[in-house]
Amino acid sequence: MKVGRNEFFRQATLRLCSSLEIEKAMFNCLSYLRDFLPASEMLLTIFDPNLGLIHNLATVNLTGIRKPFPSKPLSEKAIDKINIDIGAWKEVKILDRLDLHPAGWILSDHVNLSSTSMMYISLVIEGKHLGSLVFLAEGKGMFKKSHAGLVAQLREPFNIAVSNALRYREVVKLKEIVDDENQELTRELRFIKEDEIVGADCGLKEVMEMVRQVASLKSPVLLLGETGVGKEVIANAIHYASPRKDKPLVTVNCGAIPESLMDSELFGHERGAFTGAIAQKKGRFERAEQGSIFLDEVAELSPSVQVRLLRVLHNREIERVGGAETIPIDIRIIAATHRNLEEMVRAGKFREDLWFRLNIFPVMIPPLRLRQGDIPALINHFIEKKAKELKIHTPPPLSSIVLERLKEYHWPGNVRELRNVVERICIMHGNEVIKPEYLPREIWGEEPQREAPFCYEIPPEGIVLEEIVEKIEKELIAKAVKITG
Ligand SMILES: Nc1ncnc2c1ncn2[C@@H]1O[C@H](COP(=O)(O)OP(=O)(O)OP(=O)(O)O)[C@@H](O)[C@H]1O
Ligand SMILES: [Mg+2]
Repeated sequence: MKVGRNEFFRQATLRLCSSLEIEKAMFNCLSYLRDFLPASEMLLTIFDPNLGLIHNLATVNLTGIRKPFPSKPLSEKAIDKINIDIGAWKEVKILDRLDLHPAGWILSDHVNLSSTSMMYISLVIEGKHLGSLVFLAEGKGMFKKSHAGLVAQLREPFNIAVSNALRYREVVKLKEIVDDENQELTRELRFIKEDEIVGADCGLKEVMEMVRQVASLKSPVLLLGETGVGKEVIANAIHYASPRKDKPLVTVNCGAIPESLMDSELFGHERGAFTGAIAQKKGRFERAEQGSIFLDEVAELSPSVQVRLLRVLHNREIERVGGAETIPIDIRIIAATHRNLEEMVRAGKFREDLWFRLNIFPVMIPPLRLRQGDIPALINHFIEKKAKELKIHTPPPLSSIVLERLKEYHWPGNVRELRNVVERICIMHGNEVIKPEYLPREIWGEEPQREAPFCYEIPPEGIVLEEIVEKIEKELIAKAVKITG
C-alpha cells in the first residue's frame, strides 16, 4: 500500500496511542502495519539481566491478543549476545536464521524456527532499555531493509507508548496491592467495632478462660473445632486481648491460596522475581510484624509448604521470593482447623514436627449442640444485627415453640448455620413474629433430641462399650423406622 511518509507515521502513531492497555495498542498497530509489513505477529519482551530471564509482556497476532509465553531463563552465552545487541539498539535487526540466535531459541516452543523470519527493535527511553518489540512473519527471508526502514521511523512513538503502558500497568498492579491491604484493614476494624463474643460467660466460659491465660504470651495457639463454631472469632479475641493488639492481625486462609502463589503470598517477593512481579511485595508474615498471623485451615497446607512454614517457625526469619536477604520476624502464630490433625499426622498427611510446633496450646471450641444455653442469646444477637442492617426498627419477636425447636436442633453447621437461618428469616419476613413454618425444613422436621447427643469424649471413670453400642443401635433403628414408615 502506498501512503506518504508523514501519513504512515501519523496513522501508526495514532493506533499505538489508542489504548493504555499495551496489548490493545499493539493489536491496533499491527492491524495497520499489516498493509506495509509481512508481519503476522508482534511481541513485547523484556530482558531481566539480574535474573537472566526473558519475560514476554504481550503478544498479539492478526486475529487478536494471544497468551504471552512463560518467562524463560537464558544461558550466559545468550545473555552476552543479547547485551551486545542492546548496545547496538539504534539498528532495527533482521534475523533470517532464528535457530542461530538466542532470541530464536526463546521462541522455540512458540514458532517453527526454521520457517519463521524475525525483525526486532530495542526500546530505550531516557537511556534505559525497556525491552524489545519483535515482529514475526511466516516463511524465510520475509523482512527486507525497506521494512526495517519503516519500523525505524516508529521508534520514538513505540518508546513512548510502551513506557506509558508499562507505567500504567504498574499503577494498576500497585492499586490492586493497596486495595488488598485496605480490605484486610477494613476487616480488622470491622471486628473491633461490631463483633462481640456471645456465650463468653456461658457455653464458651472455659474457652474464654483459656483465651485470658494465653493471650498475653507469645506461644502459638491451635484452635480446634467443627466448622462454624467460631474459631476465627476466638482467634480475633486472642489477638485483641494480647499486647500485640495495636499491631496487625493478618489472616491466611491456607485452603484458598493456590500452591503456586503460596510462597509469594506468605513471604513476599522482590521486583522481577517472576512474570508479573512488577513491584516488590511484602508477604503476609512481614505485614504481621509485631502482630499476629492467623493460619486458618492450616491442615490444608501442601507438604512442601508445610516444610517451608516449619523452617520459618524454627528460624523466625523469612526470605522473599527472588530475594537474597533474610528478614527476622516477630510474630504470634494462631492456627485453626476443623480437621483431626492428630489423625492426619498418623496418616502421614501432616508433618509431625509442624504439629508439635503448633500444638503447644490447643483450644477446643465445643460444637453448638453441646452449648444449647448460648442459643437464645445468639439468636437475639443475630436478629438485632440483621434488623439494624435492614433498618427494621422493631426486631421480629420469637415464639417459645420456635425457640425450643431451635435449641433442640443439632446444628451441624454450628453458629454459622444459626446465623444464616436467622438472617434468612429476617430478610424474608421483616418484623413479623417468627412462626415455626418459617424455619427451614431440616429444623422443623427434625425429631427433638430428648437426650444429650452421643459424645466421643472418654470420661475419667471410663466407658462401657456395650452400653454405647446399644444406644447407637437404638437410635439407628428409630431413624430407620421413621424413614421407612
Ligand atoms: N460466640 C460467637 N458470638 C457471636 N458470633 C459468633 C460466635 N461464634 C461464631 N460467630 C459467628 O458465626 C460465624 C462463623 O464463625 P467463624 O467464622 O469464627 O467460624 P469457624 O470456626 O472459623 O468456621 P470454619 O471452620 O468454617 O472456618 C461468623 O459469622 C461469626 O461471627
Ligand atoms: Mg474459619
